[in-house]
Amino acid sequence: MSVWAILVAAGRGERLGLEHPKAFAKLGEDPLLAEPLRRLEDSDWIDGIVVVAPAGWEEPAILLAEELGCGKANACVAGGATRTDSVRAGLAEVPATALVVLVHDAARPLLSDEVIGRVLAPLSEGWDGAVPGIPVSDTLKRVGPDGGIEETVARDSLYAVQTPQAFVADVFRRAVAGGAEATDCAGLVEAAGGRVKMVEGDPRLMKVTTADDLAKIASWL
Ligand code: C5P
Repeated sequence: MSVWAILVAAGRGERLGLEHPKAFAKLGEDPLLAEPLRRLEDSDWIDGIVVVAPAGWEEPAILLAEELGCGKANACVAGGATRTDSVRAGLAEVPATALVVLVHDAARPLLSDEVIGRVLAPLSEGWDGAVPGIPVSDTLKRVGPDGGIEETVARDSLYAVQTPQAFVADVFRRAVAGGAEATDCAGLVEAAGGRVKMVEGDPRLMKVTTADDLAKIASWL
């Protein structure tokens, strides 16, 4: 089974308030991008990596991959205006021989081999894709434009979804070609009628949004 990873790192990360994009914010000594790149490189599950860098930052991303000795990082392309555009740009670089595509947010640096294994396993059981998630523990409310609560949403069976997300390559290519937009890749596959399984996520896969998140994740390294 040939598994290719697309590492999407083209977000601007405006809430970090930095001059440079989020992928190049410091996590400990290195740019944030270094941690997930190293972990994908070291994973025996992964055969090749496509890095999707912010436009104009392809060169520093390639240099970083070289410095880290990432021999699996075969391509680096510029991302687009939305996450889906960035995924589409990355997918164009995945070779036709790939059987599985795994998409991961660079903003979730603490990727583990266990989670990669958990999202790959359902693909051998007939599922089109699998994503990691955490059951929602807070009470959820739908709020109107005036701030008034319109509804309390039952939280049983609701999950907060993470990456890495794994898909059968053919199914994923068709879903992405469909032209839909979604905040995660599973949304594209669902919109195309694909069956995607939820597997156990990992609290350490939290996404970096603010400077506090960076400090917290750095303390877990
Ligand atoms: O914006 P969001 O936090 O959902 O981003 C999740 C991941 O998608 C991040 O790793 C970010 O770099 C990436 N992204 C991207 N291209 C965009 C927007 C987000 O590669 N246009």
